[in-house]
Amino acid sequence: LISSPGVMIDLTSGTLTGDVVESEKRLKDLAGVFVNESLRARMDPATIIYRVQTHVAEKEGMEGGLFYGTSFVYPGLVGDEYFMTKGHFHSKIDRAEYYWCIQGEGMLILMDIHGKCWAEKMVAGSLHYISGYIAHRIANTGRSLLAVGACWPSDAGHDYKTITDKGFMARLRKIDGVPQLIPVR
Ligand SMILES: [Fe+2]
Repeated sequence: LISSPGVMIDLTSGTLTGDVVESEKRLKDLAGVFVNESLRARMDPATIIYRVQTHVAEKEGMEGGLFYGTSFVYPGLVGDEYFMTKGHFHSKIDRAEYYWCIQGEGMLILMDIHGKCWAEKMVAGSLHYISGYIAHRIANTGRSLLAVGACWPSDAGHDYKTITDKGFMARLRKIDGVPQLIPVR
């Protein structure tokens, strides 16, 4: 009647062990994601930008379930733009999500359906509620690994295409040594 947990999370690093699905994105997988695409194409294609560990407790698309994931974004820049995730709306666009920062320093970059962008600072322990209809991506603004926990509905899905086609309307760039969110003209 009493079982051991099928998955463990290291609360310091965010690392999951056990029943976990792993994925990663390297620079070669991120064509068109950064403003300076020609520079990205000239950088080492094998550079890891981020990894995701997911505990897939339900079937993708199931209504009423939840997923947990930890995203790890590596420190670095493409020109003056911080390493970051692709970002997405949810396919079921009204679905919300929680993010929380486990280690490192970063920025949660948000955009509504009209293209208005804003950002929230992420530090270990910061909690971020992302309501529906808001696209989200995370950037590492520090010098060490950024780890962010996430919990989202199992029927939310990921709409990457809208971001691939239109991009975010603002970019997080390192200007005078600090992160600044710069609108795209
Ligand atoms: Fe999401």
